[in-house]
Amino acid sequence: MPERQKIQNVVIIGAGNLATHLALALHRKGINVIQVLNRSRQSGERLARRVKAGFNNDFRAADFRADLFILAVSDSAIGEVARSLHLKDQLLVHTSGSVDLAALSGASSNTGVFYPLQTFSKEKRINFSNIPVCVEANTKENEEKLIQVARLISKKTQMLNSDQRKVLHMTAVFAGNFSSFMYTIAEDLLKKHDIPFNLLKPLIQQTAATARHEDVFSRQTGPAVRGDTRIMEEHLEMLAKHGVYMEIYDLISKSIIKHKNRNDEL
Ligand SMILES: NC(=O)c1ccc[n+]([C@@H]2O[C@H](COP(=O)([O-])OP(=O)(O)OC[C@H]3O[C@@H](n4cnc5c(N)ncnc54)[C@H](OP(=O)(O)O)[C@@H]3O)[C@@H](O)[C@H]2O)c1
Repeated sequence: MPERQKIQNVVIIGAGNLATHLALALHRKGINVIQVLNRSRQSGERLARRVKAGFNNDFRAADFRADLFILAVSDSAIGEVARSLHLKDQLLVHTSGSVDLAALSGASSNTGVFYPLQTFSKEKRINFSNIPVCVEANTKENEEKLIQVARLISKKTQMLNSDQRKVLHMTAVFAGNFSSFMYTIAEDLLKKHDIPFNLLKPLIQQTAATARHEDVFSRQTGPAVRGDTRIMEEHLEMLAKHGVYMEIYDLISKSIIKHKNRNDEL
């Protein structure tokens, strides 16, 4: 791509968890964050100071010298905030895993999505270079510009259309949120029996490491995949007084057995 097309100046809209990490990552890689726009003054000014940017809490005061406007506001506010910027053809992206690119139509003639797949919290340090950034845009040229920015901060960039991105976002609930809740169930049950949760940590770490491999299910262990009905029944009995946990145990065990039988048939 010719040098003159590269993105150099960026406006960040939002000052929450993602806006903070993204602004800092871009700033560290030499992109000028020229302005932070945020509804609340305090968090907006704080972020602006950290990346040496200007600040405004009026979305109509967007700095039009920017080559890229990154909307990192709550999903439900994306459409409304996008339109309130009063852009024409400036490149505008949102950062959501679950919002269609079309949510930006009408807000600019050049639009895209810049979705980093990770959970961000302001307080937690993050190494952006290992976080996949999923990119989508309404033209090939915009796509290339966004990939160029994504590659500056991450080693993993991926083109995904809106439908694919939504599927990825949904699977992140299984792989991330649900796994984490399984740990919560274990912690809760252990606490009730006065057993330290720490004992499970090496197992949790080893289980997470299976995701490094392609065919994760081939590494599945436990009573369900072994077809050990005696142990499963004993566990269900132990869980009888923990209604929902028993249902989850039963449902997941049945799903593992079904998955195994399907694989055996192939
Ligand atoms: N956090 C993550 O793990 C993560 C990961 C990937 C993608 N994302 C995406 O990043 C975007 C931001 O998420 P976040 O987690 O960073 O959110 P957040 O920490 O809750 O911050 C929300 C931001 O949106 C602004 N906002 C909310 N409602 C608004 C409204 N009606 N009008 C104007 N501004 C409004 C807030 O402004 P105030 O400061 O004034 O409240 C704040 O700057 C979302 O699209 C989300 O899907 C988040």
